[in-house]
Amino acid sequence: MKKYVIEGGNPLFGDVQISGAKNAAVAIIPAALMVDGVCRIENIPQISDVSLLLTILHDLGANIRTINRNTVEIDCSRVHNGQVPYDLARRCRASYYMIGSLLGRFGLADVALPGGCDFGGTRPIDQHLKGFRALGAQVEVQGGFINASAAEIGGRLRGASIFLDKVSVGATINIMLAATLADGYTVVENVAKEPHIVDVANFLNSMGADIKGAGTDILKIRGVERLHGGTYSIIPDQIEAGTYMAAVAACGGQIRVCNIIPKHMDCITAKLLEMGVEVEEIDDNLLVRRIGPLMKTNIKTMPYPGFPTDMQPQLAAALCLAHGTSIITESVWSSRFRYADEFKRMGAQIQVDGNLAIIEGVEQLSGAQIEACDLRAGAAMVIAALAAYGTSEITGVQYIERGYEDVIEKFRKLGGNITAVEVADAEEVLSAG
Ligand code: EPZ
Repeated sequence: MKKYVIEGGNPLFGDVQISGAKNAAVAIIPAALMVDGVCRIENIPQISDVSLLLTILHDLGANIRTINRNTVEIDCSRVHNGQVPYDLARRCRASYYMIGSLLGRFGLADVALPGGCDFGGTRPIDQHLKGFRALGAQVEVQGGFINASAAEIGGRLRGASIFLDKVSVGATINIMLAATLADGYTVVENVAKEPHIVDVANFLNSMGADIKGAGTDILKIRGVERLHGGTYSIIPDQIEAGTYMAAVAACGGQIRVCNIIPKHMDCITAKLLEMGVEVEEIDDNLLVRRIGPLMKTNIKTMPYPGFPTDMQPQLAAALCLAHGTSIITESVWSSRFRYADEFKRMGAQIQVDGNLAIIEGVEQLSGAQIEACDLRAGAAMVIAALAAYGTSEITGVQYIERGYEDVIEKFRKLGGNITAVEVADAEEVLSAG
């Protein structure tokens, strides 16, 4: 067990290198299952979700060669179909992408229902199952597993027209995976348009798929017979970059966020500019500076290109220190404010009512013992602790390390006083008497 100990109150200065996008990597690794050959994947982030998904691929018979800490070669030419067990699937929501890839390649998938961050609302997968069924699969959910099969239609999915009832990143990607090797043409409407969806489509096309329209609200997929090997580099992580931008908004200072795609940052940059943060685009970097007071603003999370829900907790941390009262409306998830009580322990004035949070800015936050409850809430707590005066201790940091590569080193390089400390967990302490 680990905790982070943070001495806050210092502004941040320096450069931060952004890693490969977590939400692209956790889809591209399952997508590699569909490739009859060697995929060399570059700019892959060193995070626990990636390690877990590579373990699942290995257990299914993939041959995985680590080239360096951010490059792997995955050979799934001899992968066998098999069950994805509960003890692995429950630890990462993206394990459900194994359904689309196994069903797409083998016409059969048996995958335990996923786990992943619980921000207090439900996380259904009805749209995923709707897509698989439209492609001709028999789908049953029983005993905690999803069993999908194309046996009744000869073992290979068939192209279909699908209209999603809800804009869903996961359903869009899962249906794209399943349709890639289907027999015929698939059109999926009302799809999500996030940068990581475009990245997955680009990966598949570089391996021989025929996918058009990624990044728009209509996907057109012409099924192909097989996917060949190739090399692909994952895009930089929009949310990781935004997290460091939110940190300098909260702490003050000036940082250069390096290796980003500026277009992906527009929705986040626009909000920070409203808050009085200065953002200057220089090539593939953003110069982010906050010298003066933070101003209040209102946020409504939306599917891309709207303000991303995965950036909502991080900006909430900064808004706790803004002049005035800000309102956050979480419209993607039914609720995503479990961090609010932890912020209150630091002196924040934040009231939550359903999918609304009302934040009254305070002069300063004070260090406290707080616990991370999901990935982005954990990142937001690091931001709040770096901005607070005094010492904070954050437990539950395994959530943070699911999605942020080298988070301690990157913040220390920016002048953040943050250290990871090993702690005996409660059982060990009790057993020690
Ligand atoms: C992905 O989750 C991301 N996770 C989430 O990021 C992100 O918050 C979310 O997209 C929205 O951008 C990964 O990419 C691994 P959705 P996903 O399907 O795919 C409803 C992070 O912090 N819905 O787009 O699970 C759902 O309840 C993580 O990196 C259905 O109703 O999200 C929600 O209200 C946390 N039925 C909305 O759609 C379905 O079948 C959006 O969910 C699927 C979703």
